[in-house]
Amino acid sequence: MNKYLAGLVHIEITTPDVDGSADFYTRKFGMREFARRDGRVYLRCWGDYQPYSVVLVPGAQPGLHQMAWRTTSSEALEEAAARVEQAGIQGTWTDGGLGYGRAFEFTGPYGHPMRLVFDVDDYEADAEHRSIYPDRPEMRSAHAGAPRFLDHVTIAATDVRGFCEWYAEVLDYRIMGYTELDDAPITVFGVLTTNEKSHDLGVVLDTSSTPGRVNHLAFWVDTYEELVICAQVLLERGTDMEYGPSVHGIGEQNFLYFREPSTMRVELNSGGYRNYVPGWEPKVWKPSDGSNNIFRNSAMPMSMTESFPAADGFTATEEGVSDEMKAELLNPYAQHGRG
Ligand SMILES: [Fe+2]
Repeated sequence: MNKYLAGLVHIEITTPDVDGSADFYTRKFGMREFARRDGRVYLRCWGDYQPYSVVLVPGAQPGLHQMAWRTTSSEALEEAAARVEQAGIQGTWTDGGLGYGRAFEFTGPYGHPMRLVFDVDDYEADAEHRSIYPDRPEMRSAHAGAPRFLDHVTIAATDVRGFCEWYAEVLDYRIMGYTELDDAPITVFGVLTTNEKSHDLGVVLDTSSTPGRVNHLAFWVDTYEELVICAQVLLERGTDMEYGPSVHGIGEQNFLYFREPSTMRVELNSGGYRNYVPGWEPKVWKPSDGSNNIFRNSAMPMSMTESFPAADGFTATEEGVSDEMKAELLNPYAQHGRG
């Protein structure tokens, strides 16, 4: 559907405690370790077709190290790289790293490191994990509520529409929707997609001066029941739910947010619409429409506005911003009242 990109293949996140984070993703969340190399841990979900979908990278703070997107062909990789450079951003060709062929790496206009790659190894399960389903890269996890795939990444940028328009123009992402404040023409959230879902790339408004921040990474389960089971499994093992389970208006996905030990936010999704409409015009939601929580009966916690790494300022979310935050947006000279 996208002329150049087939989809998100992995996200690299920094953590001050690689072992602690790896233990969380494997023992509590139900992912498996694919490899350890140079201090990094490579993790996969049972349904990931590629060898791994998350890389834990040692770092002082939780943050985005890189997001990797697969192109639709080797020609598309060349074309996409040329388009990025024509847009004024210089990239670098690399050997691609573990399980990958040649890759083009660049930092986008809002500071987000991105890798484009076409040659990606298929995952081949060992005998113990091989599925009876020829379509499955490995058998379904025996861990209750384990994620099936990596689903999306949501970053933070100082201009939501500017970010969406650049990625749509240069790399052919479809812009599916925006959330704009009820009382002011300020866009606080946007969704971009390479496929039929509402998004595999989300954008929240960032009023900090730190470029390249990330708000969360998200995984997929097939059913809402599994999402609730995942919440129970985590709760019983000491991980609180930050927000949800509930249902987004925009995109219509069921959602659940929690934090891994680094404090990085992780989301779990199921459901949502499928959209194959060419020339789709982005729809504009207001927070009062239930953009974030369609039931509109529970307030989003303020902690959801935190992006990574931590910075002065704040990040809005698809639900919008509180009155206090709105006052800050509308009056940039107002004191930051947050503790
Ligand atoms: Fe999300």
